[in-house]
This record gives sequence, C-alpha cells and structure tokens, in this order.
Amino acid sequence: MVRIAILISGRGSNMVALVDAIQSGEIPDAQAAVVISDKVDAAGLEKARERGVETLAVDRQGRTREDHDAEIIEALRIRNVDLVCLAGYMRLLSPSFIAAFPDGILNIHPSLLPKYPGLNIHERVLAAGEAVSGCTVHYVNEDLDAGEIIMQREVTVLAGDTAEMLAARILEQEHQLYVDAVKRVIRQREILRGSEGGQREKFST
Ligand code: GRF
Repeated sequence: MVRIAILISGRGSNMVALVDAIQSGEIPDAQAAVVISDKVDAAGLEKARERGVETLAVDRQGRTREDHDAEIIEALRIRNVDLVCLAGYMRLLSPSFIAAFPDGILNIHPSLLPKYPGLNIHERVLAAGEAVSGCTVHYVNEDLDAGEIIMQREVTVLAGDTAEMLAARILEQEHQLYVDAVKRVIRQREILRGSEGGQREKFST
C-alpha cells in the first residue's frame, strides 16, 4: 500500500479527485493517509473530512519556511507517508522538505510546462494568443514548477475564452490527469521494487 498525503491551500477539487479515485480503487494499492492545509479555513479540509480522511491544518504563524515545513515533514513521517501530492498548495517547499521525499513529491499545474510556470497562467496564455493550453503533473524540485514532467494533457483555447472559462475546462482535465499520473508513479515504484527484490534474491543465493 502506498500511503499518500495531499497538501492543499484552498478549494481542493484535485484533492477530491485523488481521494475519490483512491477510495473507489481506481488508483489501486493506495491509501489516503492525510490531507494537510497551510490555511485553517481551506474549503478542501471539510471535503476531506466528509470522505473520512484525516485532516491537519498547519498554519505558518509567521515562522520561517524551514520551521513550517519541519512540522509538516514530521506529520508526514509519523503517518508513514510514501508519496506527497501537492494540489493547489500555494507555497514553495524548502530544500529539506524536498530532500525528505526523494522522487516522492508531485504537483499539478494548469499549463503545458515548461510554458507558463507561476501565477496568472490563463491570463498570460490568452494574452499571448496561444491556440492550445493544458495541464501538467510533474515531480517537485527546488525550482518553481520545473521538476521532471510525468504527464500532460492539452486543452484547446476557444475563441472568446475568458481566463475563468479556460481555467474551468483545464480543471476538468486536471482531475483525470492527476489520477492517471499517480497511477503511473505507483506502477513504476512497484516495477522498481520488483526488480530490486529480484536483484536481492539473485545476490542472496
Ligand atoms: C489547480 O488549477 C491546480 O492546477 C493549481 O491550483 C489549482 C488548485 O485547484 N496548482 P483545486 O484546489 O485543486 O480545486
């Protein structure tokens, strides 16, 4: 069982998509271990509770990023979390957070990275006259929205689109993309574990 933590700051619709897919078995061999928010009043917390998932609000309270992250890392360790999914989590992670979960932190971003990292994505996409946008699930490293890409999905920009309209169509795709990407990462880990097990068996004979 892969124990998954989901970090949010707000609405939590991607978190809901992940939790529902874990609980229905669409994402196999996984458990939703905890949903953590850096905002006490994040709407997503209630949605996680309704689904029977443990929730935790870890407010920054004026602390340094390192101190705040240390509390979150400890909460993840206590719960034996294997995989951390950022889902609308509006903070950059400290180097120690990233080091604590090598190849174990994913993020979803509503653009076709490496294009349009950061904020105000849809406004910038429209201003540039792009014909296509989309969403990306990637591993998290120390640079903003810059880790290795796991999966992407394209969404056509339509004539007359506002930023809100484009965001809503991309968000629909994000929900399925995140589920598919987590499935892929879990499968890859299983393959890797299988081959390591095979190596160990070989050496132990
Ligand atoms: C999503 O568009 C996600 O790609 C971005 O922040 C938004 C979060 O939405 N990182 P939600 O909280 O998952 O509904």
